[in-house]
Amino acid sequence: MPTAADAAVGIFDSGIGGLSVLRHIHAALPREALLYFADSGYAPYGDKSEDEIVARSLAIGSFFTGQRVKALVVACNTATAAAIQAIRERWPELVVVGIEPGLKPAAQQSGSGVVGVLATRSTLASKRFAQLRAQMESQYPVRFLPQACVGLVDLIEKGELYSPATVGLLERYLAPLLEQGADTLVLGCTHYPFVREAIEGVCRRLCARTPAIVDTGEAVTRQLLRLLDARGLHRAGGAGSLAGYTTASRSTLEHAFAGLLQLNPPVHALGQG
Ligand code: DGL
Repeated sequence: MPTAADAAVGIFDSGIGGLSVLRHIHAALPREALLYFADSGYAPYGDKSEDEIVARSLAIGSFFTGQRVKALVVACNTATAAAIQAIRERWPELVVVGIEPGLKPAAQQSGSGVVGVLATRSTLASKRFAQLRAQMESQYPVRFLPQACVGLVDLIEKGELYSPATVGLLERYLAPLLEQGADTLVLGCTHYPFVREAIEGVCRRLCARTPAIVDTGEAVTRQLLRLLDARGLHRAGGAGSLAGYTTASRSTLEHAFAGLLQLNPPVHALGQG
């Protein structure tokens, strides 16, 4: 007889960015049934209105509840900022975990007290980000430099992790942060860990040092595990599984799984709607 712990964990992002979170979840919770939803047909979220992002997030949440998930991971900073409250209100019975830019670990580890925050325009303009920033600035001697990386998600979705266009965009966004003394960079968008090496390369070229980089994918995984344990929902036995769903082309998500995570799960195209 399947138990509540046998239900799946749904993980979503505007596209392939959430795979940078999924890789930690997949490694840490090998017995779980994981469903990954890439909303690539609607990416990027970062330039959309809050209402549009909430509507997409609730549509994806409905898809997952149709699959009878026990937990929902919003593996997207932009969707977390805009829609996590609406998701929690709609499905109070689900374990819901979101992701936010790691301002706290960055504030704690920065030596210069200057921290660059790379994220989408929407995340940086959100009320949640303003609150988190004010809270951290009142607790730590730190100055945050928010930098919206417009265009970067589109390039990563196309698989351009080291292309001249990607490197050029990174130089434009990183130069002012380094000039102002940032010694720590927060990756406040789940797509950005996939250009981490390009970011480090650009920093070395621009200022001969590599800033510390903060990525919260692992912290999200720990929080998911804590919440599943607390509710007795952590599946400790049996074989795990993984499946992908996309609102764009199946082959794009298949290539992303294989190229970025060396995984080959079944992938289903849902079409836009
Ligand atoms: N991966 C996303 C995030 O963490 C969304 C990027 C986008 O679609 O603009 O913010």
